[in-house]
Order: sequence, then structure tokens, then C-alpha cells
Amino acid sequence: MKLFDVYPLFDLEPIKGEGCYVYDKEGTKYLDFYGGHAVISIGHSHPHYVKKITEQVENLGFYSNSVQNSLQQELAHKLGELSCCEDYQLFLCNSGAEANENALKLASFHNGKTKVISFKKAFHGRTSAAVNVTDKAAIQAPINQLFDKEFHEWNNIDTVRASLEKGDICAVIIEGIQGIGGIHVAETKFLETLSQLCKEHEAVLILDEIQSGYARSGYFFSYQHAHIQPDIISIAKGMGNGFPIGGILIHPRFKASYGLLGTTFGGNHLACAAGIAVLDVLKEEKLRENARDLGAYFIKKLTAIDGVKEVRGMGLMIGLDLGFPVKELRKEMLYEEKVFTGSSSDPNVLRILPPLNITQKEVDIFLSVFEKVFSKYLVV
Ligand SMILES: Cc1ncc(COP(=O)(O)O)c(C=O)c1O
Repeated sequence: MKLFDVYPLFDLEPIKGEGCYVYDKEGTKYLDFYGGHAVISIGHSHPHYVKKITEQVENLGFYSNSVQNSLQQELAHKLGELSCCEDYQLFLCNSGAEANENALKLASFHNGKTKVISFKKAFHGRTSAAVNVTDKAAIQAPINQLFDKEFHEWNNIDTVRASLEKGDICAVIIEGIQGIGGIHVAETKFLETLSQLCKEHEAVLILDEIQSGYARSGYFFSYQHAHIQPDIISIAKGMGNGFPIGGILIHPRFKASYGLLGTTFGGNHLACAAGIAVLDVLKEEKLRENARDLGAYFIKKLTAIDGVKEVRGMGLMIGLDLGFPVKELRKEMLYEEKVFTGSSSDPNVLRILPPLNITQKEVDIFLSVFEKVFSKYLVV
């Protein structure tokens, strides 16, 4: 059987990972400053993570959501503590799109409305409701376009206010930092006014922290520079460090009822073991603080490089607008210099999303490699 050919692939196959490095079958070592689409939070094959998952699968890999599973409680407790969202409620699922799908569904259950506000360049996943609020018509099938949505300008509260005032908006969904769109940070004042307007007009505020959350920005959730309490926060990616797990944090004013949401695999034993191990390491190794401090150093150094048009981001979620298409430079970084970086929907923007346990040594290696390669493209 052939694979359904939907991914353009780089010509290399990592078969082993350790910390912020991956290795191919020839043993060639690559510095990973992309974390497989921002997924690797605590580093590849972290010993605590490997141990927790191994022990769990030796005992029990899976049982359904119809029995007690204290691992879910442990995960919720540790997540609440680390994220300072102790009073929220957790629903577990398997991916980012699924998290947003449940968030949108819950919003509509809550207020009975169906129209959603999203933002230009937003990415929220590929399932039915999530893709309908993603700003990329090419990935929406006719069957996905089943409810009304509006895409507003990033950080522009005026049009959002005008729309909310009509009273028919079910939810506003927003990334704390737009990832795939090219790393755009939501401004503090914008988030605070948005939150206030959502309350006034009974719209549910959904913060998509799937890429920007889990300590990547230097905050546990990237919106936390603003004084807001979102109604729903969606999470995935860094949550499992590669193990498929996602979830939504739900504000206490939302009441659960049996059967309202559900899943077969979500919150299974193995996924919880992975999720707990990630939280243990984030706490133990102070990776949020590392992302904050190292990110500040990194952004300062990148901003000082002559010719870089703009450096955007927070912590270890960084976008470099180079002013020209980054495709060839990315390939050279990978094939010649053995460094992984990411692209974005803006062809001129390089996305940098390393594991959160990198040190200054790796940042300095990256900087010297990048400067060398970048200087060639500037001359051309
Ligand atoms: C902000 C954001 N939301 C949602 C998703 C979808 O997550 P998944 O690919 O796990 O479905 C992504 C994936 O890149 C994302 O970056």
C-alpha cells in the first residue's frame, strides 16, 4: 500500500533524539531549533519521560473513560498548579484540532449561538469547526464551511468591538501568539479589551495556546502578560513532548454534564504518563524561566544582526522576517549546517521553536551558523 501523498518531505530521516539534537541513520547530528512543529518541550528522549512512559506501558497502557483513572487527576492537579489556573476544569483529548473542536462546541452549547470571530492568518487545526475558523480557504472542504465566521485584523479592537456589539457572536478564538501565521504577539491592551467585550456581549473567549503555551513564551500561557481569565484555553503540542495529547482548560462558570463531551482515547493512561512527565520536568528544570531568560538573550542577539528586517516573538517562540523568501536558506541551514528551523505561512518568515531545555551554548551555535548562512543571502 502507498501512503497518501500529502506532505512535501525533506530528504532525511531522524531515527534518534537526545535533548535538542536528532540523529539520522548515518549518525549525523542535527541541532533541532524547530522541535517538530513546536512539539518538543522538554527535549528529545528525556530520561524521566522515557522512564514514566515505559513504566506505565508495562502496567497498563489503556483503559476507557468509564473507569477511575487517577493519572488524569494527577495531570490536572500538576497542570493547574504550574499554569496558575487551579480553578479551571480539564477535558483531555488527543490533538490540537480536537481541543479547538471541543472548545468551539462547548462555546456553542453554552450560549446557543453559532457565529465565530477569528483573525487573519490564524491557524486552529484541520477538523471541521477548527478549520472553518482557520484563515486558509484552500484547506476547507465545502463540508467544513457550516457556520458563519469573520476574520479580523490582528490587534485591531475596533472592528471586533463593532461585530461583538451586534450580539450574535458565539465565540472569539485567538492564538496568544500566532504561530503558523508568522509569529505575531497579541498586545496586552488588545487582549484585555477583548476579554471585557466578550463578557459584555456573552461571547466565549477561547485562547488557543496549542503552540504558544506550555512555557514556550516564558509565561506558562502566552496570554498571561495580560490580566484576563479566558473562558477556554486549548492546549496540545508541548503538552506531551511528542506523545499525542491535547486538552481544554474550562473556566469554573461552565458546568459539566454527563455526555456533554467525550472521547475514546483522550486522557488514556499512557498519554497521562507522558503529560505528567512533561509537567514534572518543566517544574524541576525551571524550563519556563529558561525560556524567558534565554529567549530574551536570543531575541536581543538576533535583533542586532545587520539586515534582519524584523524579529518578533516572546521566549523561545521567535519569528525572523528576513525580507526575502526563506525557503532556500532553510534548506541550506538543514542540509549544509545540520540545523532544523521552521517556515510559516509568510514566505519571508523563519520560525524558531527549539526545545525549552536548550542552553546558551546551543543559542550561540545557532547564531553563528545563521549569521554565516544569512550573510550569503544578503549579498545575492
Ligand atoms: C495554534 C494552533 N492551533 C491548532 C493547531 C492544530 O493542532 P494539531 O495539528 O495537533 O491538530 C496547531 C498546529 O499547528 C496550532 O499551531
